[in-house]
Amino acid sequence: MTNVFSLYSTLKDRISQHEARVTTVGLGYVGLPLALTVSEAGFCVTGLDLNTDRVAAINAGERVVSYFPENRVGDAVASGRFSASSDGAVLAEADVILICVPTPLSGEREPDLKYVTAAARTIAEWLRPGQLVILESTVWPGATATVLKPILEARGLRAGEDFFLAFSPEREDPGNEKYTTQTIPKIVGADDQRSRDLVDLFYSQFVTRTVPVSSLATAEAVKLAENSFRTVNIALVNEMKVAMEAMGVDVWEVVKAAATKPFGYMPFYPGPGIGGDCIPVSPVYLSWRARDVGSSMPIVDLARLNNDQAPDLLAGRVAIELGKTGKAIKDARILILGIAYKKDVEDTRESPALAILNRLEAMGAACDFHDPYFPVMPVTRDHPDLAGRCSVALTEGTVADYDAVLVATDHTNVDYAVVAQSASLILDTRNVFDAKGLSADRGKIVKV
Ligand SMILES: NC(=O)c1ccc[n+]([C@@H]2O[C@H](COP(=O)([O-])OP(=O)(O)OC[C@H]3O[C@@H](n4cnc5c(N)ncnc54)[C@H](O)[C@@H]3O)[C@@H](O)[C@H]2O)c1
Repeated sequence: MTNVFSLYSTLKDRISQHEARVTTVGLGYVGLPLALTVSEAGFCVTGLDLNTDRVAAINAGERVVSYFPENRVGDAVASGRFSASSDGAVLAEADVILICVPTPLSGEREPDLKYVTAAARTIAEWLRPGQLVILESTVWPGATATVLKPILEARGLRAGEDFFLAFSPEREDPGNEKYTTQTIPKIVGADDQRSRDLVDLFYSQFVTRTVPVSSLATAEAVKLAENSFRTVNIALVNEMKVAMEAMGVDVWEVVKAAATKPFGYMPFYPGPGIGGDCIPVSPVYLSWRARDVGSSMPIVDLARLNNDQAPDLLAGRVAIELGKTGKAIKDARILILGIAYKKDVEDTRESPALAILNRLEAMGAACDFHDPYFPVMPVTRDHPDLAGRCSVALTEGTVADYDAVLVATDHTNVDYAVVAQSASLILDTRNVFDAKGLSADRGKIVKV
C-alpha cells in the first residue's frame, strides 16, 4: 500500500514542476476563467462540463464569454494545454480536480447542493489515490466535510490519507477589469495539514497571494461572510435612499461625499435590488446553517427581506411617478433598460430587472426591454414565461413611444443620450444620467 507521505510528495513535485494535470468540473462563469488561468500558467487542463454545446463551442475556440479577450479561449485551445470534454473518464488522469458547479437555492429558497453531490458522485467513480480535490462552489460551513467528503469516500478511499481534500472559495467578479483570477487573493482551507499545503502550493503557482485558513469550514465561512456583508450594506443604502429622499437629500451625493472618508466607511450604491448567483444566495446559506446549528442571523435575514422586496417597492414607485404625469400604470408602456443583474455582463440570474418587469406587467403595464447583451430574453429559472421576447432597438422613435424608461442596469454601451433626448419620463435606479452628465432636463429624470 502506498503511504500518504509518498502520495503527498509526488503530488507536491508534480504541482511545483507544473506537471500536474488539472480537471475543472463545470465550465461556467467561474470554472472557465479558472481553467484558462491554470492552463495559461503552464498546466495541462481539461474542463469537464455536462453542457455539450458549451464544450463544443469551447473546443472550437469560440469566445464563449462576452467580456473575455477575443482570442483567449482560442489561444488556450491552440496551445494544446486546454480542452473541454463531457466524458467523466477525463477525471482518471487528473492530479488536481476543481469543482465549480452551481450552488443555487431550492424551490423552498434553501441551499441546494444537488449539483455538488452529482459532481461528487462522478468524481468518486474515478477517484484514485494521490488526487487533490478542491471545492470552489459556494457552500455552507461544514458542507465539504459532511456532504462532499462522504460521497468521495464511499468506495473506501480516505480524505487526508489516500486523497487530499480542500475548499477554496471563488471570488471572481465577472466583468471586473481591475481584479482578475490571478490578482484576487485566494483563500485556501483544509482539515489536514497535507491537503492545506497542497492546495496552497497549487494556487500559489498562478495567484499572486494565497491566504491559508485553518479548516474547510473556515474557508467556506469566509465566502459567506463577504457576500453577507455586501447584502446587508446594499439593503442599508437602499433603505437610506428612501428615507433620505423624504428628507429632501440625494443619497447618491451623500454616498459620494461619505466615500471621501479615508477610514471606517465603504461606499455601497442604491439600486433596483440584488441579483446574480452569489449575493442573493450566500446569505441564505449562512442563515440556514446558523439555524441548523441552533443560532440565528436576524440582521442578515432582515437585509434579505429588504432586498427581496426592492422590486415590489420599485414597481410601486414607477406607478406613482407615472401617475404624476397623468398616466395610469395599467395603461402605461414602459421600456426597461438592462435586464442583466449588473452592468456589462450577460447574466440574468436572479436579476431584479426581471422581477420588476414581472410586477409592472402584473399591474397592467406593457413592458419591453433593451439590453445590448440580450437580443432575445433567455430562459430563466424564475421567469421562464418571459423567454423569447426581443430587445427593442434604441432610437429616438422607439424611445419616444414609451410613457417611461426605467433604467434597471447601467450597461456601458447604451446610448443614454438618445434616451435623455427622447424619453418623456426616465426613472433611473442607477444614477447613470447624473454620472454621464446627461441630467440637463432634470424634470423628466427621476432617481428612484
Ligand atoms: N458567477 C459568479 O460571479 C460567482 C462568483 C463567485 C462564486 N460563484 C460560485 O461558483 C459556483 C459556480 O458558479 P458559476 O457562476 O460558474 O455557475 P455556472 O452556472 O455559470 O456554471 C456551472 C457549470 O457547471 C456545469 N455543471 C453542472 N453540473 C455539472 C456536473 N455534475 N459535471 C460537470 N459540469 C456540471 C454546468 O453545465 C455549467 O456550465 C457557484 O457555487 C457560485 O455560487 C460564482
